[in-house]
Amino acid sequence: MFTFTFIVVPLLLSAQPALSSQSLFRPWNLSSYCNAPHVNASHYERPEGEGAELIHLSVLMRHHKRAPVALVPNEREIDIDTNWDCSGVQQFTYDGGGARLSHTVNTPPAHPFAQQIWAGTCDVGQLTSGGFYDARAHGKDLWRLYHTRLGFLHAVVPSEISVRTTYVDRTKHVASGVLAGMDHSTIKRKWPTHVQPQMENSLGPSYKCPRADALIAAAQSAPVWQDVLKKHSALIERLDTVLGTRDSKVVWPSTFAFYQDVLTSRVCNDHPLPCNAAGDCVSEQDAAEIFELGNYEFDYLYHRAENAAEYVQLTFGVMFSELADALEAPSHHRLALYVAHDSSIIRLAAGLEIFPLRWPRLGSEVVIEVWKDKNKKRFVRVLYDGEIVDSLRWIPFGDFIGLLRRQVPAHLFEKCTSTSNDVEGTKQLKMPLALTVQEV
Ligand SMILES: *[C@@H]1O[C@H](CO)[C@@H](O)[C@H](O)[C@H]1NC(C)=O
Ligand SMILES: *[C@@H]1O[C@H](CO)[C@@H](O)[C@H](O)[C@H]1NC(C)=O
Repeated sequence: MFTFTFIVVPLLLSAQPALSSQSLFRPWNLSSYCNAPHVNASHYERPEGEGAELIHLSVLMRHHKRAPVALVPNEREIDIDTNWDCSGVQQFTYDGGGARLSHTVNTPPAHPFAQQIWAGTCDVGQLTSGGFYDARAHGKDLWRLYHTRLGFLHAVVPSEISVRTTYVDRTKHVASGVLAGMDHSTIKRKWPTHVQPQMENSLGPSYKCPRADALIAAAQSAPVWQDVLKKHSALIERLDTVLGTRDSKVVWPSTFAFYQDVLTSRVCNDHPLPCNAAGDCVSEQDAAEIFELGNYEFDYLYHRAENAAEYVQLTFGVMFSELADALEAPSHHRLALYVAHDSSIIRLAAGLEIFPLRWPRLGSEVVIEVWKDKNKKRFVRVLYDGEIVDSLRWIPFGDFIGLLRRQVPAHLFEKCTSTSNDVEGTKQLKMPLALTVQEV
């Protein structure tokens, strides 16, 4: 069942500053999707009971708003009069022994391939200026809470704060923005950041796991999911007409994710919904429906589908294990910051049983607080997008580690790669790896 609420607000109100992190003028509620609520000093509640002391924080978050990763065949046509702005994100390459190189992205209009990508300064999937702005605001809020109000963090220095990202640039750009939001003087400093190789990256996650691919293909070809797709075929048909993606190989079949990406990226960066050369446009209602279907799809794939739990464990088991190890290690870091993707946060939420699942919002965060009570016993509390998770309000440290470790299958590598365990009902892989085992 899907229910949609449309709030009719005159579109005249739509003039928004380019860096606005809210898109409230839409007649549908995407504002919190574009910039997820996060913990902040004005709404934070300390745990009940006297004398508890915060001893560690792990924050896992999705990057902030970005350019689409899904391209339509004639991208420039649907971005008429729109410039994608990533000029606020100076991409920087520096090896410590060379010139401090920074680059901007540009497609000259006369480039023979120019129609394949929008005008402006954004590469595919790049963090936009608005995303960088949100990342800094996010860091500022973390600092106001955990430094100014709680006095837990003392200084924004690598001995106190560890940073891990994926190999994808936008996660590094967000980490950089969050640190600068916490302490402006970091913009002049070098910060060590940990990244795993793409083929092994557990935080993405992007390691190869053919059995997991087979499980997702089975979930997508299951009649219960095929029925959802059929029920919305008229919607897909309308979108394909505007986007020029009918009969196109670029659309990922059996998923709403392609349309979700095309549309939410535009809405979140305050761009108009796409129109084609014939003047047909995607309607606000169709975009709202895709957004709800995206939430529904993620809850299906990562929670309700048969074998969803195994799928999550195979694809995020390495990270669950690394997280448990890191929490158990006598840590030198007060804060461990991980900047990742929706594909990371959705699996973490599934493993922590924060149901129903929804598509992780931009800047979505899971905060794991470790406290020591007055009897020196350790407890964990988890906050998801600024709200305390009811089932993880105050649980013994060992129980929390147990919960993480239960998500780690034994012999993970063999389970992923063994060819002897075919999955019942599998057709061919229906979703490109980009959306299943890689990050968005
Ligand atoms: C938008 O959604 C958020 C959380 O999902 C909710 O708290 C808020 O009231 C909604 N706003 C409107 C205008 O419906
Ligand atoms: C602060 O926290 C409250 C409660 O979770 C939330 O509604 C609000 O959006 C948060 N503010 C920011 C900037 O995230």
